[in-house]
Amino acid sequence: MIPGKAILLQFVFGLGSIAVLPFNNPPGVDIWCGKAYRETNSSFDPGGQLTAPEPSKSLLLDLRFYPRMNLYLSTEEKGSFIVDTPVSYIYGSPYENRTFEPNSPNASQPLPFRTLNIQIWNSLNNKILVPWGKVEVNSTGKEFSFDLSLIDWTNTGSTRVRIIGTSPDGLQSYQSVSTVRILPPRNDTGSVSRIDQRYGALQVKSSLTNDLWKPIFPYSFYTSYDWIVSTLNNASATKNLSTYRALGYNIIHPVPPWPLNVTVLKNFLTICDELELYVMYDMRGTYQNTTAVTEIVALLQKHPSLLLYYTADEPDGAGDTLNATNIAFHHINNLDPYHPISLVLNCANFYFGEYASGAHIILEDTYPIAANTSFSPVYHTVCNSTWGDCGCDDCHAGDPAYPEYVKNKFLDISTRMDDFYRYQEWLGWASQGTRGAGGAPVWGVPQAFYDQGSFWSRFPTPEEEVVMGILRLNHGAKGIVAWIYPTSEPIEKVTGQLATLASGTEFTSYTLEADGVPLEVIGGNGLVDATAWVKHGKVLVSVVYLGYEDHVWHVNVVLPTRVEKIEKTLWGKGDWKVGNGTIYTSTLKGLEVSILLLS
Ligand SMILES: *[C@@H]1O[C@H](CO)[C@@H](O)[C@H](O)[C@H]1NC(C)=O
Ligand SMILES: *[C@@H]1O[C@H](CO)[C@@H](O)[C@H](O)[C@H]1NC(C)=O
Ligand SMILES: *[C@@H]1O[C@H](CO)[C@@H](O)[C@H](O)[C@H]1NC(C)=O
Ligand SMILES: *[C@@H]1O[C@H](CO)[C@@H](O)[C@H](O)[C@H]1NC(C)=O
Ligand SMILES: *[C@@H]1O[C@H](CO)[C@@H](O)[C@H](O)[C@H]1NC(C)=O
Ligand SMILES: *[C@@H]1O[C@H](CO)[C@@H](O)[C@H](O)[C@H]1NC(C)=O
Ligand SMILES: *[C@@H]1O[C@H](CO)[C@@H](O)[C@H](O)[C@H]1NC(C)=O
Ligand SMILES: *[C@@H]1O[C@H](CO)[C@@H](O)[C@H](O)[C@H]1NC(C)=O
Ligand SMILES: *[C@@H]1O[C@H](CO)[C@@H](O)[C@H](O)[C@H]1NC(C)=O
Ligand SMILES: *[C@@H]1O[C@H](CO)[C@@H](O)[C@H](O)[C@H]1NC(C)=O
Ligand SMILES: *[C@@H]1O[C@H](CO)[C@@H](O)[C@H](O)[C@H]1NC(C)=O
Ligand SMILES: *[C@@H]1O[C@H](CO)[C@@H](O)[C@H](O)[C@H]1NC(C)=O
Repeated sequence: MIPGKAILLQFVFGLGSIAVLPFNNPPGVDIWCGKAYRETNSSFDPGGQLTAPEPSKSLLLDLRFYPRMNLYLSTEEKGSFIVDTPVSYIYGSPYENRTFEPNSPNASQPLPFRTLNIQIWNSLNNKILVPWGKVEVNSTGKEFSFDLSLIDWTNTGSTRVRIIGTSPDGLQSYQSVSTVRILPPRNDTGSVSRIDQRYGALQVKSSLTNDLWKPIFPYSFYTSYDWIVSTLNNASATKNLSTYRALGYNIIHPVPPWPLNVTVLKNFLTICDELELYVMYDMRGTYQNTTAVTEIVALLQKHPSLLLYYTADEPDGAGDTLNATNIAFHHINNLDPYHPISLVLNCANFYFGEYASGAHIILEDTYPIAANTSFSPVYHTVCNSTWGDCGCDDCHAGDPAYPEYVKNKFLDISTRMDDFYRYQEWLGWASQGTRGAGGAPVWGVPQAFYDQGSFWSRFPTPEEEVVMGILRLNHGAKGIVAWIYPTSEPIEKVTGQLATLASGTEFTSYTLEADGVPLEVIGGNGLVDATAWVKHGKVLVSVVYLGYEDHVWHVNVVLPTRVEKIEKTLWGKGDWKVGNGTIYTSTLKGLEVSILLLS
């Protein structure tokens, strides 16, 4: 958010030699997301953009598999693999929809190639982990369990595993590799946290969870360290970590300086342990200093409230060295393989692969509310794809040149969420089998601040705050940490209610344990965004109305499965009805959000 940082980092890490700068800026030209943003400098192509892979001429089948959990403990007996077999023109090896069935009545009659025979084995000791079984062609999410004891993990902690898939006649075959990670249980009081790669959900286990895996949907804030310090053991503070936790926030993302007062940090962490307030520890100022990172990781280790690390803050905006996030990732993983690593990317499309390769979890911070997305009030330049910094990279909210974004002021947010998953697909991260189905989970950073003289002219309203959070949920967010606490009283109140809902099992048993399915909406003027999660015949549906004006026409949201009734309204005023395989209403209040449980 502070573009001035870019030039400083280039001097520090560019070692004074212009030749090593990887970006397109001429010497002396400050950049944000690779673009010149000062009036005195002219525009140029920032480079670093990802584009969609070229489609192939023939149909391809991509045999993908990955372990359900990104890590297992050696005390667990069973693990499982998820096998996906998408057919497309982009990923995989040639697929011909034709095979012979040796056991069919007429073996010389060609048949459609509908099922793949697969086998999975440990490539270190050749032990079979999953014996020959069947998977439908063009399916996702088929799960096969295996015995963790078949993997001798003691040497490295990580084991290469392989899958082979063949057509029934054996003439077409597909292969890929993945990695299973098994770690010994911790021998201290620290937590273990891992990712359920099927659904992108975080799970944590420690004395705070009675040593059981507990799924977490984080709904919370980046939090001022000054605020934390000023309220610790301060009898006259009306708000402190206890009141913060009592609002419903289940995690805290402190933004501490370094060096810091270690006594105070320990005091803070101990209170978090007592409150079961999980910590997402921010190392933005230090992540490129391996000595400092080593010291910080050691300080955090024994605390059961440690949930995950956060390294770089907008490295793509600032133009940090391209390999910096990945170097920090490996360093931290070597010191502490028990907690995932996250970072936030600010740019719409600037060296996404390089920076995101340093994270298990990727955050986006798209701030389109009360911003001028086409002319920078701070730097007095036009903002477009090659020039300017408007605080929301390549955003178009309210820009008359983009009518869709005038109508829907939140479109930049849903587009960014979708893009961050799409880029990972383009990079083939899902098909490498090293990350889960959609690649790394994406978390959202809703806008919840107001800085005078910045790109934004006011605080978001509480209604906007709810839309920004739940819209992200609809588009696959697996966690929400808004910028920044303390925030306005109305935002604090409403996010406390949302956090209470989002952390409850009634909600997480759908959002963290089922696929989110985007729903068709009839009526609604293109301003109704809806997603459903289906489990055991019940449906959790989340409907976000993105218009500021009340909508008084009929709106139908088409459901993915048959239900009879609204069992419970978890959020919203609840005047929806069930009928014709839809839920429907004839009035939506401006920015109305509904979360319903249907059965
Ligand atoms: C870019 O702008 C800076 C600051 O105003 C100025 O010093 C510099 O000469 C400009 N560089 C170019 C190449 O225009
Ligand atoms: C078996 O299939 C072949 C190839 O389609 C066909 O020529 C033959 O007549 C079939 N035989 C029988 C017994 O159906
Ligand atoms: C293969 O062909 C069958 C029969 O035409 C069809 O039902 C099926 O969808 C095809 N599968 C793929 C992946 O193209
Ligand atoms: C494969 O599955 C996808 C997603 O369900 C579907 O859109 C596509 O049409 C299918 N492709 C074929 C060839 O059947
Ligand atoms: C505890 O585990 C750490 C690393 O996982 C190891 O270095 C250390 O030796 C272990 N301590 C004991 C007492 O087993
Ligand atoms: C304690 O809290 C009060 C009220 O918020 C504040 O004015 C004061 O500065 C705090 N004390 C310290 C030492 O931070
Ligand atoms: C927060 O303030 C309340 C009321 O003064 C107090 O009971 C509680 O112990 C405080 N919590 C912390 C973590 O300091
Ligand atoms: C750290 O904070 C504690 C508690 O506020 C204080 O007593 C101590 O003097 C501080 N240490 C340093 C080195 O500033
Ligand atoms: C890196 O961190 C160490 C330990 O905190 C500190 O002594 C050192 O000055 C830092 N180096 C830089 C370049 O900031
Ligand atoms: C990281 O990139 C910098 C700058 O391009 C380079 O000097 C350094 O050798 C790289 N480090 C590693 C470990 O690749
Ligand atoms: C962005 O705006 C600048 C200044 O008006 C202009 O020179 C440049 O061509 C624009 N870039 C694009 C891609 O339109
Ligand atoms: C259901 O669909 C029928 C036929 O399209 C229509 O007449 C009826 O009004 C619909 N009912 C509801 C409750 O929407």
